[in-house]
Amino acid sequence: CRQPSSEEESESSEESEPDEALATHGEPATAHQPPALPGKGDERSTAHSQPTPARTLTPLQTAAAALPRPPAKPAVFIPVNRTPDIQEERLKLPILSEEQAIMEAVAEHPIVIVCGETGSGKTTQVPQFLYEAGYSSDGSVIGVTEPRRVAAVAMSQRVAKEMNLSQRVVSYQIRYEGNVTDETRIKFMTDGVLLKEIQKDFLLQKYRVLIVDEAHERSVYTDILLGLLSRIVALRAKRQLPLKLLVMSATLRVEDFTQNTRLFPKPPPVIKVESRQFPVTVHFNKRTPLDDYSGECFRKVCKIHRMLPAGGILVFLTGQAEVHALCRRLRKAFPACRSQPQEEEERKESAEEMRKFKKSQARAKKAQAAALPKINLDNYSVLPAGEGDEDREAEMDEEEEALGSDLDLDLGDDGADGGEQLDASLPLHVLPLYSLLAPEKQAQVFRPPPEGSRLCVVATNVAETSLTIPGIKYVVDCGKVKKRYYDRVTGVSSFRVTWVSQASADQRAGRAGRTEPGHCYRLYSSAVFGDFEQFPPPEVTRRPVEDLILQMKALNIEKVINFPFPTPPSVEALVAAEELLIALGALQAPQRAERMKQLQRSRLSCPITTLGRTMATFPVAPRYAKMLALSRQHGCLPYAIALVAAMTVRELFEELDRPAASEEELAMLTSRRARVARMKRAWAGQGASLQLGDLMVLLGAVGACEFASCSPEFCQANGLRFKAMLEIRRLRGQLTTAVNAVCPEAGLFVDPKMQPPSESQVTYLRQITTAGLGDHLARRVQSEELLDDKWKNAYKTPLLDDPVFIHPSSVLFRELPEFVVYQEIVETTKLYMKGVSAVEVQWIPALLPSYCQFAAPLEEPPPAYCPDKGRVLCHRASVFYRVGWPLPPVQVD
Ligand code: CDP
Ligand code: MG
Repeated sequence: CRQPSSEEESESSEESEPDEALATHGEPATAHQPPALPGKGDERSTAHSQPTPARTLTPLQTAAAALPRPPAKPAVFIPVNRTPDIQEERLKLPILSEEQAIMEAVAEHPIVIVCGETGSGKTTQVPQFLYEAGYSSDGSVIGVTEPRRVAAVAMSQRVAKEMNLSQRVVSYQIRYEGNVTDETRIKFMTDGVLLKEIQKDFLLQKYRVLIVDEAHERSVYTDILLGLLSRIVALRAKRQLPLKLLVMSATLRVEDFTQNTRLFPKPPPVIKVESRQFPVTVHFNKRTPLDDYSGECFRKVCKIHRMLPAGGILVFLTGQAEVHALCRRLRKAFPACRSQPQEEEERKESAEEMRKFKKSQARAKKAQAAALPKINLDNYSVLPAGEGDEDREAEMDEEEEALGSDLDLDLGDDGADGGEQLDASLPLHVLPLYSLLAPEKQAQVFRPPPEGSRLCVVATNVAETSLTIPGIKYVVDCGKVKKRYYDRVTGVSSFRVTWVSQASADQRAGRAGRTEPGHCYRLYSSAVFGDFEQFPPPEVTRRPVEDLILQMKALNIEKVINFPFPTPPSVEALVAAEELLIALGALQAPQRAERMKQLQRSRLSCPITTLGRTMATFPVAPRYAKMLALSRQHGCLPYAIALVAAMTVRELFEELDRPAASEEELAMLTSRRARVARMKRAWAGQGASLQLGDLMVLLGAVGACEFASCSPEFCQANGLRFKAMLEIRRLRGQLTTAVNAVCPEAGLFVDPKMQPPSESQVTYLRQITTAGLGDHLARRVQSEELLDDKWKNAYKTPLLDDPVFIHPSSVLFRELPEFVVYQEIVETTKLYMKGVSAVEVQWIPALLPSYCQFAAPLEEPPPAYCPDKGRVLCHRASVFYRVGWPLPPVQVD
């Protein structure tokens, strides 16, 4: 379907464009010129006297030293003063025996792939090899990208510790925070952070080496980075500023990189690190898989702990809530044993919590005394705290009860080999691990468990490859993973818990054999395993790509279809993304005929607009970026920022929709849900503000929470997730900075406490929302149009044939406005719209002209938003909605 000629054309233009764009940059041409190369043997002799593997000069290196070479390899050997025990530890890592091969390959080739099992030492050691070899000796930086924030933080700390250097030298940068300084020589970051840096400096001149870690995970940002870096490496070579790229992968499945000549025209060398993996015995369940895999995990852990010899247990579950539930159950079943400092820390924490709790209780009492039905806390409605407390206790009691029966286990089936019965009272040191967990809590899993106890880590997927937990001998694998699925075209998303791939299952099993032979208990049968997919599909094939396309266009890559993705997204996903960006005004709309031609020939090449460039600087999805770009007037920016932050950080409210296991739990959940529903109604308010709907709830929740100083008790009492609220606060700060950068006259400052918006501001916010979420417009099916009962209270959207409904958790569930925009459609029992806001029909032609078909000829002025009147002005007599379904003509003034 693609035409070779067009491909060539655009390939060359892609390369030249960024090049030209950068021609204006004053660039330090000599910054990367390394001095001549001394022998490696000499280098080593300047190091400290720790035992190190012998390194001799290969013939290749000798030749290299003799010849005047292009500046491929740095020279100065930088000694590192490691402590003896660290040095001893690292000598055990398989990657140490490959150091010479890796460094030679890096010296000889611009791009090198390093493959090795998780735990072989890639992430922690390769940056150290490069540092010692002087790749940062001229003040440049060795960059390492990770797909997960957790890994970026943990790895920078680990490497700093191993090298005996401060975090000023070995640093990290993630979305919200970092500790990078001028002294930083090794920088761990998320792949998204590096992508943003490419926008600022396409040649990435401050780096001399970049390591793209965990490439096998195939996250979209990793994929796009590889595509970009393949070009950047070529550009830097042309400019005599060589950049080295190392791609590190935990699996040997690297064909997507090595056999993709569009990505890497010359296949890079692959260095395989033989792992020192001990055998892991895999035990499959005999029974057909159960739905209650969490309960099954609990039983399996109990069994292992009671019957099998010492060794850490690692449990794989699918989500944070499950992880916590299992941790609580296990802690109840086996007494905890804590080390002193931890106990002290927790005592402090609980004292602090108690203090805050007492304060909030006092406030609530004061308010009750004033006989108010609601406290008006600085104008945000807040119900008195404490109402939910009995519920929480009920929840705990319920759990305890369930436990009794669970402990009567049948210990006799397909368990592990022999092993004497152990003392069941041996303490179990239970720790959770998931990506949203606070960093200091995450770090606990790397510490040895208290004397005489057994470590048990209950984790999500994050423990599969990015982090290696020491001392794990037993793995319990539920075989499932929770993933978000999107329909590529309609954008409808659903969370599905599905079976993992065979590669993931094997990866999980491998975690048991790091230090000695281990066991993996799979809670599913071998027949089921046989049906698993071989590898997980790359993320880029599973999600909409409009954010990526916008970022790429901002990098002047116009013909995205020719971009060297390791695995390209489908043409329909690319078309859908461009269409959305055109509708948002981020890309120039081509003439209709021209567009048809583009689509027919799969040549998508719309250039970015000024608005698009502004939007690309905001670190949020394009729809939300458009909202920010529109919010300059009427003091709306702080509200738009808070709203966009709340919409970006998912799931503000705790999950209370889970199925109840008992009558009591049902009652508890019902009462908590009722309380949250009351809060939502209070935050939504009345009149104009109610029309902003669920988005007003978000704004109210953020505002009220900030007036309560974002305290954990406030969140708990009102069904808000504390973590989410903290993240919103940080994102608000970040967005404020981004807005100030493009619009200095706004002169915003970060003030978490904002007064509620005025009524007219709420109306503007509704219009801003309509403009941003315009492609998510839905219209209620009128009674005369009812086809059958399934359409009762239903809405119709342009892209879906099926009815969609307002989610019951929405404050507009009973209001049923004629037109709404929604944040997302989630498929559960029906197709539900979440994050719903009402739209006035007369706004549509002005705010979303590309979705309208105008009945009148075009000589009249186009419809416009009139800031003075705060209204949409449209001179046409009637408008028709363009796509999907017929709309009655509407009168507008
Ligand atoms: O990247 P790769 O999976 O190949 O290995 P790594 O993350 O570099 O880990 C190498 C070794 O360091 C593993 O055996 C870990 O147990 C250990 N490590 C550790 O003890 N503490 C950390 N915070 C990180 C790694
Ligand atoms: Mg690693």
